[in-house]
Amino acid sequence: MHALLGIDLGTTGVKAALFSAEDGHVLSSAFVDYPLMHPQPGWAEQDPATWWQATITAIRTCLVGAVRHNVQPADVRGVGLSGQMHGVVLLDEQHQVLRPCIIWADQRSEPQCRWMTERVGAARLIELVSNPALPGFSAPKLLWIRDNEPKIFARARTMLLPKDYIRFRLTGKIAMEISDAAGTCLLNVKEGVWSREVLEAIGLDPALLPPVVASDTVNGTITDQVAAQTDLVAGTPVAGGGADNACGAVGNGVVRPGLVLVSIGTSGVVLAYAATPQVDISGPVPRVHTFNHAVPHAWYLMGVTQAAGLSLRWVRDNIGLPERALERWTGLDAYELLVKEAESVPAGSNGLLFLPYLQGERTPHLDAYARGGWIGLTASHDRRHLVRAVLEGVAFSLKDCFSIIREQGLPMEQLRATGGGAKSHLWRQIIADVLGVELVTTNATEGPAFGGALLAGVASGIYDSIRHACETTIHVVDRTEPQSATERGYAQAYETYRALYPALKPIISKPI
Ligand code: XUL
Repeated sequence: MHALLGIDLGTTGVKAALFSAEDGHVLSSAFVDYPLMHPQPGWAEQDPATWWQATITAIRTCLVGAVRHNVQPADVRGVGLSGQMHGVVLLDEQHQVLRPCIIWADQRSEPQCRWMTERVGAARLIELVSNPALPGFSAPKLLWIRDNEPKIFARARTMLLPKDYIRFRLTGKIAMEISDAAGTCLLNVKEGVWSREVLEAIGLDPALLPPVVASDTVNGTITDQVAAQTDLVAGTPVAGGGADNACGAVGNGVVRPGLVLVSIGTSGVVLAYAATPQVDISGPVPRVHTFNHAVPHAWYLMGVTQAAGLSLRWVRDNIGLPERALERWTGLDAYELLVKEAESVPAGSNGLLFLPYLQGERTPHLDAYARGGWIGLTASHDRRHLVRAVLEGVAFSLKDCFSIIREQGLPMEQLRATGGGAKSHLWRQIIADVLGVELVTTNATEGPAFGGALLAGVASGIYDSIRHACETTIHVVDRTEPQSATERGYAQAYETYRALYPALKPIISKPI
C-alpha cells in the first residue's frame, strides 16, 4: 500500500487526509478547528501555536483512523502541505513566533499598500511582481508591523507563510514554497525569485525571506520529535506543497490550459490555468491576481471574493440560531437546513440582493473598506430570502471574477467546482445559472489536502509528474447545467447588482 498524507491549513481549521496513491481514494481524514480573532474591525489574526496543536491532533487522529483500515504509518510515502495564503508569521532569532499571524482576510494595511505603490511606482510594481499591492497580500502586512510594532519588527529574523510555518515545525526546515511565495507581493512571479528591486525600494532586508522551493520536490523530512507526537515515521519526506488555491487546482486536475477552478471556501475564487504569467490588462490596475502555479513553469489567473462561505457562515452564526441549536441536539447540519429553506424561494429572491463585502473586497473593486449588506428588503421577505440572496450575491461576485478572467482571452473549456460551498447542489446550480456555463465536480472531495498529497506523490517518485498524478486519480463525476429560464432572470439581477457598489460606494466604503 502506498499512502499519501495531505495537510490543509485552512481558515476555519486544519484537515489531515490520507489517500491511496493508486486511485486517490480517501483512506482516512480528520478535521480540527481553531478560532479566528478579530481584535478590531477589519482585522483577522490566528495564533500559529493553535495551528500547530491542531495539526498534530489532526495527523494523529487521521493515522489512528487509517490503522482501522489496515494502513500503517510506515505506508505513508510522503506528506504534502497546503494552506491559506498570504498570512505573515514572524520568527525571532531562536525561531520563536513573535506575534499572532495577520491572515489573508485582514484589511488593516491599506495605508502601507499606498506607500509601497508610491515607493516602487505603480506600473513598475506590476512589472516586477505581476500584482498590485493589496491589503490581502503579505508585504503590506509586514510593513504594517514595521510601522506600528517597531519593537517586534526589530526582533524579526524570518517571515514565513502559514503552511510553511507548519513545514518548519514538521521538519525543522525554513523554506517558502513558490505558489505561496507568489502571494507575498515580493516575488518576481515571472522568474520565481525574490524581487531585489521591490525589497530595496521598501527597505526590507532580503534575509527575512526564506529560500523559495518547488511545490513537487522533497523539502525536509519528519523529525524524531514530530514522529513521537504524531505517529508518523521519522524521515517521511515532506513535499513543498502549495497555496490552498494552487493545491485546490491540483486536487481537481486544473493543471492544463482550458481548465478553471471555481472554489467556495471561506473566500471564493475563480482560478484559470495560464501557460504564461500574463497580467490582467482590462483596467488601470489588475483586478485578478497572477500567481505561480504548483505546476512548474505554469501560472494561474485568479479572482478572489473575500467572503463566500464566510457570508453563509455569518448567516448561520447570527440569524440561523434555530438551525445551530438543532445541529447541537440532533447532529443535523445547520448549513444544509438553511440552504434547504432557501430552495423554496424563487430564483432572484423576490428582488432582494446581497453584497458579500463582509471583509472588504478584492475582485473586482480592490476596496479594503467596502462593506456588505442586503438591499431591497420588503415586509414580504423572510429569512429564506435572506439566505438565498446570500447564495446569489456570492455567485454574482464570482461572475465578476469570471468575467474579468474571460476578458484576458484564456481558454476556459471546463469549470470545476470545489470547496465546502460547492457541496450544496443549490449553490452549484445558482452559480451555473449566474455564470451561464456548466459546472462539473470531480471525485476529489478533499480539494487542497488532496492536491497537497498528490504533490507529495510526485516528490516521492510515485508519479512522474503532476499531470500524471491527476490523470491517475481524478475524473469528473457530476455536471450542473445552466437552466436557460433562470439564467435570463439572473442576467438582469446581475446588472442591478453591478450598479449597487458604485452607487453606494460613498456610503459603504469608509476607512475602518
Ligand atoms: C487567495 C486568498 C484566499 C486564501 C484562503 O488570494 O487570500 O483564497 O488563500 O485560504
